[in-house]
Amino acid sequence: MLDRYKFIPKYNDFLRLLNQKRPLFIRVNTLRGDEEFIVKMLENRGFELESTPLKYFYKIKKAPFHLQALPEYILGLIYIQNPSSALPVFALSPRKKDIILDMAAAPGGKSSLIQQLTNNQSILYSVEKDPFRAKKMRFIFDRLNVRAVIINEDALKLPFKEEFKKILLDAPCSANPYIDKTFISKTIEDFINRQTIQKQLIKKAYEMLKPNGILVYSTCTLEPLENEFVIEYALSLGFKIVNANLFGEPALTSFENHEFPKEMQYCKRIYPHIHYGFEPFFYCVLKKPK
Ligand SMILES: C[S@@+](CC[C@H](N)C(=O)[O-])C[C@H]1O[C@@H](n2cnc3c(N)ncnc32)[C@H](O)[C@@H]1O
Repeated sequence: MLDRYKFIPKYNDFLRLLNQKRPLFIRVNTLRGDEEFIVKMLENRGFELESTPLKYFYKIKKAPFHLQALPEYILGLIYIQNPSSALPVFALSPRKKDIILDMAAAPGGKSSLIQQLTNNQSILYSVEKDPFRAKKMRFIFDRLNVRAVIINEDALKLPFKEEFKKILLDAPCSANPYIDKTFISKTIEDFINRQTIQKQLIKKAYEMLKPNGILVYSTCTLEPLENEFVIEYALSLGFKIVNANLFGEPALTSFENHEFPKEMQYCKRIYPHIHYGFEPFFYCVLKKPK
């Protein structure tokens, strides 16, 4: 199955990284305290942190003990999160008073960053279909001091029509070989099954967005059937790809015998061996026309 991804630049370096330990990253949660102060507290406990190109994100270079055992973790001053997962949120560019929908929200990493960036001043609906995951997200939001309306519902059943200026769809996906050791046994049928759900969700996002509204679509898979092919479907609905100068490698403009529109290059792919150990990721900014 991995041979399918030979399009990855420096493919052998990518393969080599699969067998290595994944680096750990944290986000400093400024909804609970001052960034410099929190970093100092961790350093005083013997942690070594390295800053990343992303605001609030640090790589853990040395950890004398488990992060989850720290009072700073329990009190919500820090959140364990890979920086890849922050990229769609920065691309969404949330502002105070924005009314935002996060269509597939649990465990809440992206929703909580949205509220960190707006100092809890956006009106955020965090939707999660799975009751257990939705409940867990409530606890996480309380710990992190995040204000959001949690809706435990299938996003496809939401009653909204052209109501949001900004929607985030971090779609359920088949994962990738970097974070899922069972990935190797995935089949094309698994990818197609996921794609069917992703297409339904992206169509629903189109219906719920206001004209001129922005959708950020993302996944943590490298699979073109769940990324570029889904974006191609989004274009057929009327969405346009926005050239938002995103961080990452250009998405594919062709795969096997299939050519994608050239604007696909404005969607981005993240690869751990190229991008500071960040986990594999795909994201794209789409606009609904007037
Ligand atoms: C990739 S995870 C989201 C991760 C999350 N955005 C974060 O950053 O912490 C996808 C989530 O979507 C949920 N989900 C799947 N289908 C859904 C649907 N139809 N409506 C709402 N949530 C759904 C899954 O249960 C899962 O929690």
